[in-house]
Formats: sequence, structure tokens, C-alpha cells
Amino acid sequence: MTHINPSNTATNTVMEEHMLTIDWADGQQSQFHYIWLRDNCPQSCDPNNGQRIGNTASIPIDIKPSSVKVNENQQVEIVWANDQHVSRFELSWLRTHCYSLPSPQFRWQPKLWGSELKEALPEAYYHEISTSDEALKNWLLMIKTYGVAILRGAPIKSGAIAEIVGLFGYVRESSWGRFFDIKFETNPNTVARTHHPLPSHTDEPFRHNIPSVQLIQCLVSNSVGGDSSVVDGFQLAAILLDQEPQMFKLLSTLSVHFYFEDEESCLTTEAPIIRLNELGEVASVRFSAHSTQPFQFPFEQMLPYYEAYQTFARMCQSPDYQVSFKLDAGDLYVVDNWRVLHGRTGFSETGQRHIQGCYSERDDIYSKLEVLSRNEPSLFNRLD
Ligand code: OGA
Ligand code: ZN
Repeated sequence: MTHINPSNTATNTVMEEHMLTIDWADGQQSQFHYIWLRDNCPQSCDPNNGQRIGNTASIPIDIKPSSVKVNENQQVEIVWANDQHVSRFELSWLRTHCYSLPSPQFRWQPKLWGSELKEALPEAYYHEISTSDEALKNWLLMIKTYGVAILRGAPIKSGAIAEIVGLFGYVRESSWGRFFDIKFETNPNTVARTHHPLPSHTDEPFRHNIPSVQLIQCLVSNSVGGDSSVVDGFQLAAILLDQEPQMFKLLSTLSVHFYFEDEESCLTTEAPIIRLNELGEVASVRFSAHSTQPFQFPFEQMLPYYEAYQTFARMCQSPDYQVSFKLDAGDLYVVDNWRVLHGRTGFSETGQRHIQGCYSERDDIYSKLEVLSRNEPSLFNRLD
């Protein structure tokens, strides 16, 4: 028996002056401009890869059909008056791509968290994700959802971290190399290579294009201290917007100067701590005390800015929002460096602590996740 879906079944199609109207069996109605239909004609795409080969610029803005019908395959079949080209649209495709009805709220949302995440740390074991696509997929989904996930028991060898990136993407090389060492040095080019604590920060804030993913692996851990911590920058931004909207406004509109230099690099950029996208949503958080240059704001905005900055900085270190954990040799964690801040406590001068870090990109994690999830129901809103 054929299952009839009323939202994908047309009861009527009407050719109007500039648009096609479709009445659906569920009582809804969609309207499509003719130029939009011609532009998205499935018969103007490369059949091997679905990519558009038609030229949008050459479609007459007042293009019209000479006929429209629903054919025997339940496709809307349009013959275009100017060149007799035939376009055939699946009804279900038209319904999903309808833009005249309010769009369903299907947009994927990250799951914001505070210190409660400690009770159920997103983590997996290396031997699981390196041998099972299902385990890898679940781990990548944790990274996408929470912006952080731990991996326990990875090989304890220099460069293992770059091989692990190969399970889901590509190493993003930087002036620090393919991967880099973080251990005590006597004359270091960064405070990371001292015994000092590193308060919550995002890495590489002095770049315009910040690496969106960072991995941090522990290779040796026999000094006292050096515990890791993470905090959800998106959660902090959401709380600030709710409780201190003026502070949120300052942090999302005034640009801070971030800077790094050593013998081989001189990296500089100006950007707000909270960056918003074109919809006004939080797109990324950039925060790093050790790379922040003197604020250069209009005089009357300096004190209000400091209040906002201090409030945010306190939230970054607050046990209400921070999650701390210990990495044993072999363990690593991945952070979404556009969202989750990371840090470490100071550690003793006796004993040794050796960490390796490596950058990668979020796009490839999301891509791998989609590929591993093909033929599955949508990943939207999993891990509730
Ligand atoms: C860094 C860093 C973490 C650590 O070097 O930027 O965050 O645990 N290090 O040492
Ligand atoms: Zn860091």
C-alpha cells in the first residue's frame, strides 16, 4: 500500500503572473516565484553530483511557464515559454524548500552547559573510536553538541595527537608546527611553557581566522597540579545577555586588540570578545588574558567596559560554570575553540608535565559526522 503524505501531495497548481501556487492536501499553500523555480531546476544540475550548471544570471527575471502539470510520477512538470526547457520537481522537494510558509524550527542548537557537565563528562576511549565508526560518530557528536569531549587511553607517543586528528579531519598547521609541545622551559615564548596557571582562554585569539578545533594531549603527568578545565563560552554569553544586556552589548561591539610575537611571528588582530553573526546570535567567543593588549576605547566607555570584562572573566573562572578534570598520560581533550574556553591550574616544579597540542577544523568534524550518519534519521537534537 502506498503511504500518502498530505504535506507532499498537491491538490491543485495555479499559474499566476509571477508565481506558481500549490495547494497541498494538508490545507497549506505554497508559492514559488518562476525565476526561483527555473534557477533551481533539477534538470539544470550535473546528474553526477547535483551541482548547479545553469547560469542564474542569464535567466530572464520575468520568465514564465507555457504549461504546468503534476505528471504521473507525482512531479511538478514545467515547460518554460522562452526556450521550451522542461523542469521536473519532486513534490516532496518543493514542500521542504517552500519559502512562503513559516519555516519549521529545525535549526540545530548546541547544548549549553555549566558545572553540571562534570557529572556526565562527554568522553570515550581511544580503542573504541579507532575501531568502531559508531563509537567515533558518538564521540564527534559530543564535540559538536557540547564543544568539548575527552578521549582516554590514546597512544603515549609524540605526534599521536596528529594521527588522532586523521580519524575525523586534517591537522591545521600553524606557526607552532603540525603539533606543539607544552612543557616547562627556562626562557619560554609563551606563559603556557611555565609552571603558572593558565586561566580560561581560547587559543590563537590574535588571528583573524582562528583554528576552530584544538586537541590537548597529556604525555607525561607526574608533577603536582596541572589540572585541566573547560567552560562553555556560549553559556556565559547567554547568561550575560539575559542578566546584563548592557555588558553583553559592550563585549560584543567593542573590539579588543590581541597580539603575539616571538622571533618568527608577529600576529595581530582586533575583534570583540563575543562575536555575533548576521542574525545577532553568538558565533564565537575569543578570550585570552595573556594576549590582550591595552584597551583603547573612548574615555567614557573604559570603566563600563572594565566592569563587563571583569564580570565575564569572573564567570570564566567560576566553579558554577567551569568543569575541571585530570588528564593521565595518554588522555586528551578536544575543544571547539570558537566556543569553549580551556585552562589549567599551575603545577609543581618537581616532577614533569608534558602536553602536546594540535589544531584542526570544525567543518571536517561536522562533515565526518554527517558522512558516518548517512541513512540515519537526522542528527538534529540528538543527545537531549
Ligand atoms: C595552552 C594551553 C593547556 C595545558 O598552551 O594554550 O591551554 O594543559 N595549555 O597546559
Ligand atoms: Zn590554550
